[in-house]
Amino acid sequence: MARDEVFAARYAPPLLHVDTATPARIYDYLLGGKDNFAVDRQAAAALEQREPHARLIATENRRFLQRVVTYLVAQAGIDQIIDLGSGLPTVDNVHQIAHRHNPDVRVVYVDHDPIVLAHARALLADNPRTTVVAAQASDPAAVLSHPHTCALLDLTRPWALLGLALFHFIPTDPAEVIAGFTAHMPPGSHLALSHACREATTPETAAQVEAIYADTTTPLRLRSRAEIAALFTGFDLLTPGLQPITCWRPHHPPTNPDPVWLHGGLGVLASRG
Ligand SMILES: C[S@@+](CC[C@H](N)C(=O)[O-])C[C@H]1O[C@@H](n2cnc3c(N)ncnc32)[C@H](O)[C@@H]1O
Repeated sequence: MARDEVFAARYAPPLLHVDTATPARIYDYLLGGKDNFAVDRQAAAALEQREPHARLIATENRRFLQRVVTYLVAQAGIDQIIDLGSGLPTVDNVHQIAHRHNPDVRVVYVDHDPIVLAHARALLADNPRTTVVAAQASDPAAVLSHPHTCALLDLTRPWALLGLALFHFIPTDPAEVIAGFTAHMPPGSHLALSHACREATTPETAAQVEAIYADTTTPLRLRSRAEIAALFTGFDLLTPGLQPITCWRPHHPPTNPDPVWLHGGLGVLASRG
């Protein structure tokens, strides 16, 4: 019996989805992590057949996250962050990046994948400036009124919402979801996101990738560049605006312009009225 099957037979509670791939575990595999099952690796292999740069795209997304969080903390003075769809802990997590610049930054991690939640709780158990919330990212009230969020953050002061490689997993209107969070943001708050862009590939490849994710726990929907840009309504996009993530304030010129599936940006909430 394979190692995964032994694990599943002995320990897996029903919600672990050992027979169905999950986006968190596929992404973990693409990043070189170990918290994935055979079914996730099969889905990742199918993705890599359609998009040979799949691993590089995942790595570049983490680099984008690193640059965004560094800017937020080191330059914009943000000290409260909600990371929606945080994913499995990896080499450089949001609080670790943030704490290099300000050890007082508070981070709320939000996800709905049971393995993500279990690992995040274990990693963060002794850290009083971080917490984990099990919630649907599409439910702003559940996230913002969760006792852990309320205990850690003061939402009357500026804070940052991260939604990297997340909103393409939200089937309902993501603009409405973001508006639900924005309604509770004071001016000076920030929104950062990256999202799979429909124009970045051919219609055939887009359909194939959507078909692969249709067989996972959480289908993926590519959106047009205009739809992604509209997610920043109410925010002033900071330079260089909405870009392929490799072109957003790169530390080095992108070596390969191909893997631009994910477009991302960072905006600051303008004062209302
Ligand atoms: C591709 S990973 C991205 C992880 C991280 N944000 C990053 O950019 O490195 C997407 C994550 O979003 C989570 N996710 C997807 N849909 C979600 C939802 N409706 N509510 C909460 N988390 C969700 C998945 O479980 C997964 O951990």
